[in-house]
Amino acid sequence: MTDDRLLRVVLHGLASSPKTLPPTLFYDEAGSGLFDRITTVEDYYPTRVEAEIFREHAVEMAMAAADGAARVVMVEPGCGSGAKAASLLAHLPAVAYVGIDVSVTALTAGASRLEEAFPKVTVMAVEADYHEPFTLPALPEGRRIGFFPGSTIGNFDPDDAVHFLANMREIVRPGGRFLIGVDLWKDPAVLRRAYDDREGVTAAFNKNALAHLNRRYAADFVLAQFGHLSRVDAALGRVEMHLQAREAVVFHVAGRRFSMAAGETIHTENAYKYDIPGFGALAGRAGFQLRQTWTDAGSRFAVLLLAA
Ligand code: AVJ
Repeated sequence: MTDDRLLRVVLHGLASSPKTLPPTLFYDEAGSGLFDRITTVEDYYPTRVEAEIFREHAVEMAMAAADGAARVVMVEPGCGSGAKAASLLAHLPAVAYVGIDVSVTALTAGASRLEEAFPKVTVMAVEADYHEPFTLPALPEGRRIGFFPGSTIGNFDPDDAVHFLANMREIVRPGGRFLIGVDLWKDPAVLRRAYDDREGVTAAFNKNALAHLNRRYAADFVLAQFGHLSRVDAALGRVEMHLQAREAVVFHVAGRRFSMAAGETIHTENAYKYDIPGFGALAGRAGFQLRQTWTDAGSRFAVLLLAA
């Protein structure tokens, strides 16, 4: 998002009731570092469990995704450094890999690493926000396999998730496949903890949204006036993160004044959790068919193969 667009979303969210901020605000340089730390804490299981599933089943996943094709083209929205794709590329008859990300630094570093590791694969980097329409470069022939690990799909409201998946279905075209990591519904206490870890890294990550606004738009949030809150909404099937005012607060963003009562919150993120049939139905609304599923022994996380 451009500075202007993001600011408009921020101002609109802070003027709304209840107040909201977009999760994209977490990810400036400090926030990306904090997210990397979250993935290493004990209470935040998704990254660790997904990695375990990939380690155990990468060959089988690659075979199932290629499904007999002699040439495949892998497309990864939000690829970051593309590190997760490498474990699959090693087992795929890939002729090209397209990484799409807003972070040019992560993209270019990742692209050259993949090029080195897979000299037969044409690596293409597209600098774009996959939440918005983007154009793909001309791609070689081959079965297209979309790749969207990390349970990032959980950040979308279900209707937006359907919309996103429908766009991805257009991109992979008929005959294409989509491999997606989905965090599964479980004990609410475990879910709540995953978003309020005992080391306090998630709290720092959440508050970084405000620190980011202070740096980027000369806002004047006093971070100590806000507490981190994670709560589970079982009816909606999601974990929510909020920043809660510890006292009555006044702050300014880009010259506009806002106030909050003590206890009032800013809703900063949703992380939807699914069961496998439920996600299959959602993917079905986007025109995908659920082909195969891999989970860990504890059924905490799933990697699903969808067919267009
Ligand atoms: C990167 C969106 C998958 O929702 O679990 C981690 C982000 N937020 N802890 C998630 C996140 C708080 C994460 N995703």
